[in-house]
Amino acid sequence: MREASRELIIRGAHVLDPLSGLDEVTDVRLAAGRVAEVGAGLRGARRLDADGLHLFPGFVDVHAHWRTPGREDEETIETGSAAAAAGGFTSVVMMPNTDPIVDKPVIVSGLVRRIENESRVRAHVSVALHEGLRGERLTEMRLLKEAGAFCVSDDGLGTQSAGVLRNGMLYAKTAGLPVILHCEDHTLATGAVHDGVPAALAGIPGSPASAEDAATATALVLATETGAKVHITHVSTALSAGLVGYFKDRADVTADTTPHHLTLTDELVGTLDGMYRVNPPLRPEKHRRDVGEALRGGILDFVATDHAPHSLSEKDLPLEEAAPGFLGHETAFAAIHTELVLKDKLSLSRLIEAMASAPGRWIGGAGTLGVGAPADLALVDLSEEWTVRPEEMVSRSRNSPYLGQKLRGRLVGTVVGGELVYDRIGERVGERV
Ligand code: DOR
Repeated sequence: MREASRELIIRGAHVLDPLSGLDEVTDVRLAAGRVAEVGAGLRGARRLDADGLHLFPGFVDVHAHWRTPGREDEETIETGSAAAAAGGFTSVVMMPNTDPIVDKPVIVSGLVRRIENESRVRAHVSVALHEGLRGERLTEMRLLKEAGAFCVSDDGLGTQSAGVLRNGMLYAKTAGLPVILHCEDHTLATGAVHDGVPAALAGIPGSPASAEDAATATALVLATETGAKVHITHVSTALSAGLVGYFKDRADVTADTTPHHLTLTDELVGTLDGMYRVNPPLRPEKHRRDVGEALRGGILDFVATDHAPHSLSEKDLPLEEAAPGFLGHETAFAAIHTELVLKDKLSLSRLIEAMASAPGRWIGGAGTLGVGAPADLALVDLSEEWTVRPEEMVSRSRNSPYLGQKLRGRLVGTVVGGELVYDRIGERVGERV
C-alpha cells in the first residue's frame, strides 16, 4: 500500500466527521498521505469535484475473514481488500480461522508481508488465542505480537472452558494484546439457526439465544476480574446487549454488532436457503430492534461486518448443511443506511461514529478527518439507489444476503493514505494546468 505524495483537493462535499465535529459542505486538502487542511475555497492543481456527495472518515472493520492462507478460492488479501475498499473501509482486522490457523509467528510475519504487497487498505492481523483454536493451549502471544499480531481471537468458535478463557485473558493482558471474543456456548448452540418459530415451522434444529447470552455473561465477568481489554464481537441478542451495558463501566470492554443482525431477521429461515445460515444466527425482530437500540444509544460501540466469504458449493445447500457466514464489506453502509437511517432509527452521524470513529479509536489513530490524520476517507452518494447483483460483487465470493435487494447510498470513492483505492468517478478528478 503506497501513501500518495501528490496533493488532492476534494471540493464541495458534505463533510461529516463526528470526532472533529465537522458537519458542513466544505473542501479538504490531502497531502503527503494526510489530511492537510479543511476549509472552503481551497485551490490546487489536482482536485476532485464532489458536489452532492458526502465525505466521511474511512470506515474501519475489526472483523473480516479474508480466507488467506488456505481458502484463496473464496477470498484473498487482494480481493478481500478490494471488497473492503468498495464498501468504504480503509482499515480491516483479519481473523485467524484460516488454514493453517494463524497461531505461529512465521504465519503472522508472512501475512504482514503479504498485506504490505497485496492489500489496498490498511489491514491488521488477529492471531488465535489458543493453538489450533482448540481452546486448550494458549498461543505464544508475546512472540506473535513481535511478529506483527494486532490482537487475539478464537473467532468462529466460542471458548468453552471459563478457566481456559480466564488464563487467556490474563496472558493477553500481559502481552498487551486486546482480545476479540466470539461468545457462543457450544453445549447450547447445537442447531443451525435461531431456535424460534420459523425454525420450528421449517423443522430445522435451532440454537437458543442463551447460547450467546451465557457465553457473553461469562466473558464479561472474566473481563471484569482480569482487567483484560476485551471486545465482544457480533452481539445479536437483546440480553447480550443489555449485559454489555451493565459491564461497560466495570470492565475494559467494548462490543460490536453486524449489519445483518441490524437489518435481517430469522424470518429468512422460512426460505430454507443455505445462504441465510450465519453464526450467531439471524434473530427474531425483537432482538433486531433491541440490538439496533443498543447501537443507537452507544451500549454497542460499533459495527463490524464479520465479512465471511464462502464458495457457492458451501452455500447452495439446505440450511442445516450450509457453511455459516455472509459477505459484509460491500453492503454494510448501504444496508444500515437504508434500513435504519432512512427509517429514522439511527442518525447518519451515529452511523458514521459506529463505522469510523469508534472502531477507529479501537484500532488507534483512525476514523477521523481532523487535520494531521491519515488521509483515509469514504466518498458516498447517499441518494444513489442500487441493486446488489452477484456479478457486480468485488469479493471473490457471492454469498451476500442482500442479493437482489435495492439499497440506497453507494460508495463513489475510497481513499487510503491519500490514494484513490476505489474509484467510480475517475472522470471527476480534474487535472488543472
Ligand atoms: O457466520 C460466521 N462465519 N460466523 C463466524 O463466526 C465465522 C464465520 C466464518 O469464518 O465463516
